[in-house]
Amino acid sequence: MVRETSLSPSDFILPLFVCPGEEVASPVSSLPGAFQHSIDQLVIVAKEAFDDGIPAVLLFGLPESKDAVGSSAWADDGIVQRALRALSEGVPDLVRIVDVCFCEYTDHGHCGVLREDGSVDNDQTLDNLAHQSVSLARAGADVIAPSDMMDGRVGAIRQALDQEGFAETPILSYAAKFSSAFYGPFRDAAGSAPSFGDRRGYQMDPANGREALHEVELDVEEGADLLMVKPAMPYLDIVRRVRDRFPHPVVAYQVSGEYAMLRAAAANGWVDYERCLMESLVSIRRAGADMVITYGARDAARLLSQGWNE
Ligand code: PBG
Repeated sequence: MVRETSLSPSDFILPLFVCPGEEVASPVSSLPGAFQHSIDQLVIVAKEAFDDGIPAVLLFGLPESKDAVGSSAWADDGIVQRALRALSEGVPDLVRIVDVCFCEYTDHGHCGVLREDGSVDNDQTLDNLAHQSVSLARAGADVIAPSDMMDGRVGAIRQALDQEGFAETPILSYAAKFSSAFYGPFRDAAGSAPSFGDRRGYQMDPANGREALHEVELDVEEGADLLMVKPAMPYLDIVRRVRDRFPHPVVAYQVSGEYAMLRAAAANGWVDYERCLMESLVSIRRAGADMVITYGARDAARLLSQGWNE
């Protein structure tokens, strides 16, 4: 009766990885429960998730080919573009959110175009992000979620979407994205680990909270519609501060490493996976997140349907 925070399957967003081929469902060993799915399998899983009450998926692509700039990210027949068409057809009411970034598409694994010295060229990358976003919107993306952390990207993407007739397509900005060691298993799942260096030049320092709010503010000024904090559990203070300061919907990403830790400890018999998952999700919601992106979305939805809240 007096419980302050609730969980419902409608609070969750399920990340999915789409790869070339047919009838592919290859498990990601460092991320139990996550798979690389070919488009046919992706549609089946997305339909099941939607039937479990999960309203939205977040799509990541594993392209057939990579190059220095990541041009397959804006190909009209690219892997995510094709997946979007199949999902629009197969599960029309599911919300299709797409991750916009280049680390899965460049042969060096960085999130943008490189200069000769190996650093990322922020401004040149902006044009490519705009291209990628428009191409994904054309293929049926409902929400554009840029995760690259280039300065000015939300504005550049907003302008391009508006010009191309997608003024109504919202942007879910990875507004406060920290340079985190908790992304490890994701880079196995998406094949996106940088071949040299790290992402500290464009992702945020875990030590900085005020700077995170400043980053969020810039994205709001540039037109972000929904705001993301990532990772979630090590940054619950940031979730709370963003909640208190901005009226926008707040989304927190329980990232691969956070989720893999629960699974690994549970596999050793050290913690109870189900209880830890649900406790982590309710904590993220209590901190102020409206929605949580989690690899445990389907497990949580199943537990809720079995009466977990009671
Ligand atoms: C792409 C991207 C990453 C994640 C989401 N989008 C990886 C990274 O920044 O290295 C991580 C998600 C996770 O760990 O679950 N830039």
